[in-house]
Amino acid sequence: MTARRPGGYPGAAITGWGIALPDKIVTNADFAARLDTSDDWIVERTGIKERRFGGTTRALAVEAARAALARSGHEAREIDLLVLSTTTPDQAVPAASSAVHADLGCSGAAFDLNAACAGFVYSLVTALSMLGMGYKRALVIGSDTLSRITDQTDRATAVLFADGAGAIVLEARPDRELLLSYDLGLDGSLASILCCDHGGYITMEGREVFRRAVRASVESAQKVMADAGVKAADIALYVPHQANLRIIDAAVQRLGIDADRTSIVLDHTGNTSSASMAIALNEAAELGRLKDGDIVLLSGFGAGMTWASAVLRWGS
Ligand code: UT7
Repeated sequence: MTARRPGGYPGAAITGWGIALPDKIVTNADFAARLDTSDDWIVERTGIKERRFGGTTRALAVEAARAALARSGHEAREIDLLVLSTTTPDQAVPAASSAVHADLGCSGAAFDLNAACAGFVYSLVTALSMLGMGYKRALVIGSDTLSRITDQTDRATAVLFADGAGAIVLEARPDRELLLSYDLGLDGSLASILCCDHGGYITMEGREVFRRAVRASVESAQKVMADAGVKAADIALYVPHQANLRIIDAAVQRLGIDADRTSIVLDHTGNTSSASMAIALNEAAELGRLKDGDIVLLSGFGAGMTWASAVLRWGS
């Protein structure tokens, strides 16, 4: 669904951000030592050099959320809404957000949202809309432990997927315009090209996902740019889903955004699904690449097949 701005969205600001990555670094050489692959192949075809494995979705989410809370200067009890984007909850029931809510000591509501790798933007838009319904302060977290559902003997997927979490604190601020436009969508008829059964491993038609991903993320990004009335030259930072550097390069070229205005973390994180855009946004903010008023474009795609984009005006 594409949304135009019928008088604007709820005013809000991102006042905190944080990430969590497991300690264990897995390099391409580690894979080459046990699978029929090589550092050259992985770097050339994906852009990934190393990734992190370990932890639980819950523990990574809590660590990222604590970092975001510390940055925002707020206590967990001041949070009245927690949206946890994940495709890899540690248990089937209850939702992973239940344990995260308890570990942090939040107040109010919490729920999981599964829109795969587009989940962080889906969650951001969902949380923001609920701020418009009276919630005051939200934690939006993306946390995934994909290494647990990846067949580590399958070279086609093992080198791609990894673990991590990213979080932001989103606060209602009637005087601030954060969201300029958004686009959430999916094509459920493509579910089979990237999926995972309960207790199984991810299966993926890599080339088909690649082709669809470029098209979906470019079209979705173009829609939100048009809806927000911004041109490529206005985008201070492009935060794409971190799946494959060649997908990002293709999108950058088609959108006309300079590569040096793109946040890339997949070289050291791999594909962390729900966490990927949150980690890339966090890293840019930590590196001082964002200043008040900057226009930020987030755009991702994932299993479903889902896609989601948003244009934000940065300002904490
Ligand atoms: O969050 C969304 C998740 N997924 C994605 O975004 C994935 C999108 N797809 C991709 O990123 C790429 O399609 C891959 C990285 C998965 C694969 O790259 P590709 O350039 O599309 O390679 P391919 O699937 O066309 O395979 C080319 C060859 C095949 O061998 P043959 O049939 O030509 O003999 C594969 O078996 O590369 C082989 N191959 C590998 N070789 C060395 C596949 N994986 C590996 C590997 N190391 N790790």
